[in-house]
Amino acid sequence: MSNIYIETYGCQMNFADSEIVASLLQKEGHSVVTDIEQADYVLINTCAIRDNAEQRIRKRLRELRALQGRHKQLRIGILGCMAERLQSQLMVEEENVSFVVGPDAYRRLPAILQQVRQQGTKASETELSTTETYADIEPVRLGSNGISAYISIMRGCQNYCAYCVVPYTRGRERSRDPETIVAEARSLFDQGYKEVTLLGQNVNSYRFSSNGREVDFPELMHRVAEISPLLRVRFATSHPKDLSDKLLEVMASHSNICKCIHLPVQSGSDRMLKLMNRHYDSAWYLDRIAAIRRYMPDCSITTDVIAGFCTETEEEHQMTLEMFRKVRYDYAYMFKFSMRPDTYAAKHLQDDIPEAEKTRRLEEIIALQGEIALENNRKEIGKTFEVLVEGESHRSKEQLFGRNSQNKVIVFDRGDAKPGQYIMVKVTDCTAATLKGVRVQ
Ligand code: 5AD
Ligand code: SF4
Repeated sequence: MSNIYIETYGCQMNFADSEIVASLLQKEGHSVVTDIEQADYVLINTCAIRDNAEQRIRKRLRELRALQGRHKQLRIGILGCMAERLQSQLMVEEENVSFVVGPDAYRRLPAILQQVRQQGTKASETELSTTETYADIEPVRLGSNGISAYISIMRGCQNYCAYCVVPYTRGRERSRDPETIVAEARSLFDQGYKEVTLLGQNVNSYRFSSNGREVDFPELMHRVAEISPLLRVRFATSHPKDLSDKLLEVMASHSNICKCIHLPVQSGSDRMLKLMNRHYDSAWYLDRIAAIRRYMPDCSITTDVIAGFCTETEEEHQMTLEMFRKVRYDYAYMFKFSMRPDTYAAKHLQDDIPEAEKTRRLEEIIALQGEIALENNRKEIGKTFEVLVEGESHRSKEQLFGRNSQNKVIVFDRGDAKPGQYIMVKVTDCTAATLKGVRVQ
């Protein structure tokens, strides 16, 4: 039996997948190790969303050559989105890779390890599935704090945003049986976990039918939230085109469903949104923001945005800034457009915004968002929040950190508080990224 070292890049979905991979391999008697020097196999779970994500993996593969020089038996396998996108071509380009396995083929991993070891051949398994959800696999929580865990509730995406490679790397959308999701959440709670995050590329289109009855995402959230008021429930990601009032109602009516919505806007310009194939315009988006605020005035809102998509004008970039000023996001993931092979954009549009211009636009968005986040955080000073304590602050051993329902990090003096506890903290100070506070009764 072998020692497996798993390295994960990319989104939360990928981290959840690595936990499924660990489980599948442990079941066959392999061990997951945390010291790469002990490894017989290094598995790299990769991301393909932007070119720089892929360049980072290629750099890592070059670094690993030294390790392979020292450990002749070591084999490297590539999993995830880059494996799916490049398939066996990746093993031609990167000679030190022995196998590639796409996101829907992880059940084949034990057999592939055996093949690579015994026959000394290379292997590629990249078939996508319309049904695989790994529903029966209980993930091995890797690097877990024992407090929060991810639960993958659906896989794939078929929205085909013009810029996005995900439909090609993760296949058709499919939802996992709700019974298995609720059981996984309950088992985590019984083990002492206090927070679960339900994951999918577009959770609002979660839908599972069995025996003629359909469970949708709001109902699933309701069922998970009912497990215990002491189990916090989060989710990611929602697509604005189908963020329903029904979901907002369910969120508002459960105090343990966290008041935080990630709603990727991508652009503030209607022409860009249409070209991106997003199926909403800025008015629709702002209507959804108003609905969130109506149901939950204290809900935090975060977003993703792309600077410099094909043919974006200065005026359209300004519309994105305007959108940021209107919504006043609590946090944003901000990216320069990166052309991805196979996408609609690659086939039909020109990547015509010069790199320096993309950088300038991105920096403008980042600067504005920094100001907004700081102003938003200043408004929290004086308020008291329930905080789930997660661990020691990175800055000082004397301090702990946790998050409030809005997913904001709060740092406070340790006292006798312990990770995993819910405590009340009054905010006394802040930066753009963190709140500081004192424990109160
Ligand atoms: N270039 C830049 N950003 C992208 N994203 C997706 N595809 C691209 C791309 N080709 C961003 C989107 C998405 C987030 C996960 O990554 O903002 O919401
Ligand atoms: Fe996640 Fe998308 Fe990156 Fe795949 S390409 S790891 S789905 S962010």
